[in-house]
Amino acid sequence: MKIPAFTRTLACSALLALFASSANAAPEKVTLKLAHNLERSHVVHQAFEEMAKEVKTLSGGKMTIRIYPSSQMGSARETLELLQNGALDMTKGSASDLESFDNIYAIYNLPYLFRDQQHFNKVVFGPVGKEIMESTKSKGFVALSAYVAGTRSFYAKKPITKPEDLKGLKIRVQASPTTLKMVELMGGSPTPVPFGEVYTAMQQGVVDGAENNVPSWVQTRHIEIAKFFSEDEHTSIPDFLVISTKTLEKLSPEQREILEKAARGSEVYQQKLWEKIDHESREQAKSMGATFVTVDKAPFRAAVKPLFDDFSKDPKQAELLKKFEAAAE
Ligand code: GCU
Repeated sequence: MKIPAFTRTLACSALLALFASSANAAPEKVTLKLAHNLERSHVVHQAFEEMAKEVKTLSGGKMTIRIYPSSQMGSARETLELLQNGALDMTKGSASDLESFDNIYAIYNLPYLFRDQQHFNKVVFGPVGKEIMESTKSKGFVALSAYVAGTRSFYAKKPITKPEDLKGLKIRVQASPTTLKMVELMGGSPTPVPFGEVYTAMQQGVVDGAENNVPSWVQTRHIEIAKFFSEDEHTSIPDFLVISTKTLEKLSPEQREILEKAARGSEVYQQKLWEKIDHESREQAKSMGATFVTVDKAPFRAAVKPLFDDFSKDPKQAELLKKFEAAAE
């Protein structure tokens, strides 16, 4: 039987329309892969688990987040690359890791940036923090939520009470150009090492010390090798949950809303856990015979002044810095 031409055209258009709509529609069931470099005991991992539970509940079991902790899929840098290549949906990036992927994150790595925790919260969870989180679409990722990570200080086999004490010491840093410059200005030799490899690097003498917050120093057992935690509190660097823009665009508006809601919920959950773990880790450190050293921060602040001067030479960065400062008022 001969089918009239116009009928054939109609049938074709209907089929095309059908294909087009099914290609655009988000699949009913989705599984998102989230890989990161933290241990299960880390409060950010626990916040991710909470978020995964919430996503499952809110979606009636149709959305699943599968978490791969402990660098199973590689270091922070490697998981960020996987995400950009479309091989991974989500990861955790500290602002230090993210700086090499988009310079907008450099600001968070500036030492002595925040007056106190309240200032930090106003920036990170306020409009300027959100502006940064949403600004990196062209790099293939955006941040969905942010997490507090206390203050970072130096730890080594000996106390570090003044910049001169860093002389000749190889200090493990995250792969952040700003942090590298900071340690150099303070007088130490910065050595970038992925988080999961620091213990071995310390054990083998590849580095003499490192810098981190108290829970990370204790949980990673770096404390067993480096017993002096010298509280110069140079930086407060947030962690971020990062998602690939491709993945985000594949989600339906409802799925996206569920994920965003759960991610925001995990921020609040993590903040409560943070205070508890910080306190417990300090107690644990003391019971292990470790020493907290009180430090006069003034000489450390003075040493890093050129970092701020350089940073402010870029008009865009200077404008961002002004917004950070305004949040303190
Ligand atoms: C902290 C931070 C992590 C980061 C780690 C590091 O623990 O929360 O996101 O990976 O420091 O020093 O690499």
